[in-house]
Amino acid sequence: MEVVIKDNYQEISQLAANYLFDTVKKKNDAVLGLPTGSTPLGMYQIIIDKYKDNCSFQNVRTFNLDEYVGLDKTNKCSYCYYMENILFSHIDIKEENIYIPNGVAENMEEECRYYENLIRSRGPMDILFLGIGPNGHIGFNEPNYYFEPYTHVVKLTDNTIAANSRFFDSIESVPKTAITMGMKTILSAKKIVMLATGHNKAEAIAKSIKGKVTPQVPGSVLQLHNNVTLIIDKDAAKYL
Ligand code: F6R
Repeated sequence: MEVVIKDNYQEISQLAANYLFDTVKKKNDAVLGLPTGSTPLGMYQIIIDKYKDNCSFQNVRTFNLDEYVGLDKTNKCSYCYYMENILFSHIDIKEENIYIPNGVAENMEEECRYYENLIRSRGPMDILFLGIGPNGHIGFNEPNYYFEPYTHVVKLTDNTIAANSRFFDSIESVPKTAITMGMKTILSAKKIVMLATGHNKAEAIAKSIKGKVTPQVPGSVLQLHNNVTLIIDKDAAKYL
């Protein structure tokens, strides 16, 4: 695993954006895997500001990692809403090329199978960007006793609900379940770029990179992939 330690958030965001631009420059119909959360905000801003000088998203397809169960695209806390506002409405991507798990599907089991098959038939993802939770989760794959291989519904841990409550009016309004790509889905991407900043990610980063591969530390599964770049700041790198 390649580990790049940068001085500040701007440099992390710029390098991540460069990976994305390079991928799309080489392949104008690239398939991208995308996260939400705070960490990729800087990368998305650079993409908005600079994409016209670098590439077009006309033929690009995107797959988001996850979505809350029960929130539709009009809900400001849904990842669908986030992606539209933070990125998609500012670039020249076609609506029909955007894929995000449907958190309000009538039959969630069916939605999981549908989403997984979409990734399989339209993919593989050329590059997948990830953040990591303080508990080591990637996508919404929470610490567990086994690896969930494919897209599935997951019960969020109290730790994740507390961490994500900053985006909601109250902790009670954070959904208790989510739909997420599974571990094999994540590992099926040709290239993975994980971003992390801050002291509160340091333990998860150290365990993911140096610890044993275990479903108790979902990020550790990245050790099984042969093309991962981790871009982090000094705070997140403090136990390496
Ligand atoms: C979000 C996702 C999550 C986040 C993680 C870190 O789509 O997949 O795994 O990447 O919770 O979130 P932030 O960046 O807000 O610290």
